[in-house]
Order: sequence, then C-alpha cells, then structure tokens
Amino acid sequence: GLPERVTIYEVGARDGLQNEAALVPTEVKAELVTRLLDAGLPVVEATSFVHPKWVPQLADAAELMTLLGERGRDLPVLVPNERGLDRALELGCRHIAIFGSATETFAAKNLNSTLDGQFAMFEPTVRRARDAGVDVRAYVSMCFGDPWEGAVPVSQVVEVGRRLFDLGASQLSIGDTIGVGTAGHVSALVSAFVDAGLGIEALAMHFHDTYGQALANTLAALQAGVTTFDASAGGLGGCPYAKSATGNLATEDLVWFLTGLGIEHGVDLDALVATSSWLAGHLGRPSPSAVVRALATA
Ligand code: HMG
Ligand code: MG
Repeated sequence: GLPERVTIYEVGARDGLQNEAALVPTEVKAELVTRLLDAGLPVVEATSFVHPKWVPQLADAAELMTLLGERGRDLPVLVPNERGLDRALELGCRHIAIFGSATETFAAKNLNSTLDGQFAMFEPTVRRARDAGVDVRAYVSMCFGDPWEGAVPVSQVVEVGRRLFDLGASQLSIGDTIGVGTAGHVSALVSAFVDAGLGIEALAMHFHDTYGQALANTLAALQAGVTTFDASAGGLGGCPYAKSATGNLATEDLVWFLTGLGIEHGVDLDALVATSSWLAGHLGRPSPSAVVRALATA
C-alpha cells in the first residue's frame, strides 16, 4: 500500500529562485520563506552558500539568513564545500545540504570538479558539519539522464549515493535534474538502492517536471515506499527563455495529488496558492503550475 503520511521538502526559495531570470529582493525572499512555513510546509530550504558568481540570484544568502533570524537557523541551506560551510556556520545554520553529481560531466559543469574529486571536497565539509552538530542532506543530480552523457546507469547512481551516505549524510535526495525520468525507471532505481542495503526511509525524490512525468514518478516512488518528496512552490524555476527548461514539480500539484490519495502532508493548499500567486507578481510571469492556475482567485 501507499504511505499514510509524507514529508514535503520545499525547494522553491533555493532551486526555484536560483533559476529565475529576475533578481528577487531579499525582503521578498524572506517573506516567501515565512509564508511557506506559515502554510505548513515542514521543511523549507532557504538559500545556497555557493560561489556568488556561479549563482548571482542567491548572492544575498547571508542577508537573507540574517533577516530570517532564529526561525532561519532550522532551515536547510545548500553548501558545496568548506568555504560554504564556514559561511553557514557563522550564521548559526543547523542543517546543510551538499550536492553531488552522478555523472562526470555535471560534476565538472556544476562543481568545477570530477566525479571522484567531489568526494574529496565533501569529506571535510561533512565531517566538520557533523562535528558542529549540523545535519547533512546529500543531493545527487542527473540520476536518470544527463544532457551530455545521455542515460545514466542505475548502478552508477547507487554507487554515488552509497559514498555520500558513507561520508555521513542522513538523507539522500535523488535528483531528476532535467526531468527525463519515467515511472519504471523510478521503480528500478529505488529497488536498486534497497537491494544495496540503503534504507528507503533515508531516500527522498527530487523531480523536475520538464517532460510532465513528475506526478507519475511520484506515484511510482510512493508505491516503492518513499516518504519524502522535494517540490517547489508554484513550480518555480527554469528559465522562461530556455527551451525545455522547467522548474521542479510544483508543490501545489503534489499537495493536490497527495490529498486525493488520502495521504497526509500538513500543507494548507489555499495559503500556498496565494503565496505562489503573490510571488508570480514579483517575477512578472504566471506560475506554470496547473493547480495554481486552476485555484488562483486573482
Ligand atoms: P571553484 O571556482 O572551483 O572554487 O568553484 P575554488 O575552491 O577554486 O575557489 C575559488 C574562489 O572562490 C576562492 O576565492 C574561494 O574562496 C571562493 P579567492 O581565494 O579566489 O578569492 N569560493 C567561495 N566563495 C563563496 N562561497 C563558496 C565558495 N567556494 C569557493 N561556497 C564551487 C567551486 C563549488 C564553489 C562552484 O563550482 C560553485 O559555487 N558551484 C555551485 C553551483 C550551483 O550552485 N548549482 C546549483 C545548485 S545544484 C542543483 O540545483 C541541483 C539540485 O537541485 C538537485 C537536482 O535537481 O539535481 C540540488
Ligand atoms: Mg533541482
């Protein structure tokens, strides 16, 4: 059967806004994060402590965390390396997320590293985080396909995941960065993790909806026993000018879907839709989420 309850891990303020063409003022980001928390989302990833030249959209990470104050300290932030960890620790962050690649090419493009080299970067980062009592989530990107390398073998993804768990990650988020995965592939990948002895309770799925498969993929993962799903409010993310680049699975679409299945999630859908509609005004474009479009009143 399906799980009774799932945890939605909200990534709109980070994965969403990092890909938006528009630069969003820090005060608007702080209001976004606050409204998402108030809508009942249990985990709201706030921002990234990456190199500001690599992601200028999130260059105000320190200012945002300062604005959020005590409430911000329990929100996860992305950290690629020790420099990022130092910046996060200085602000009192208690949860970080590192992000690895399942492929050689994306390790170069996203981390200026290699498939093996990324672990050398993560090892001291995770060790120091854990010594400081900070919890570490690990993402793996390009788990289903890679724009440069094509199909990615399941065994390669499991091996990268195993190495991230071995470093001390408490949760692994399996990323379909370009949204090419389909339901059968999801079932096969999750089974491979379970067969490798990597527990289902420590897995999260991170779907992008580029090919419209995210909810079908979610169902396949639910049937396999996964109980944590990443999503972004309003389906934020993706450059409106780049063909085929779209955002994460919209949180509203996920909430509608889970409610229909009778699965508990704790999120107030109306509050969430109002938040995404409000933000769409700041971004100057409507939300791509079908559920937001159906339910928005203004
Ligand atoms: P690099 O240029 O190789 O860094 O970038 P470096 O270690 O050689 O250092 C060069 C300079 O950058 C140094 O300064 C460092 O201090 C500084 P200098 O001594 O020359 O003055 N530096 C930093 N400054 C601020 N914060 C830092 C930092 N690190 C170094 N953290 C690096 C390597 C990893 C930093 C770079 O490649 C980077 O920032 N990459 C991040 C890319 C990114 O954010 N991508 C999006 C997130 S991943 C994602 O979206 C996928 C996900 O959603 C899942 C999915 O969908 O698949 C998670
Ligand atoms: Mg992503």
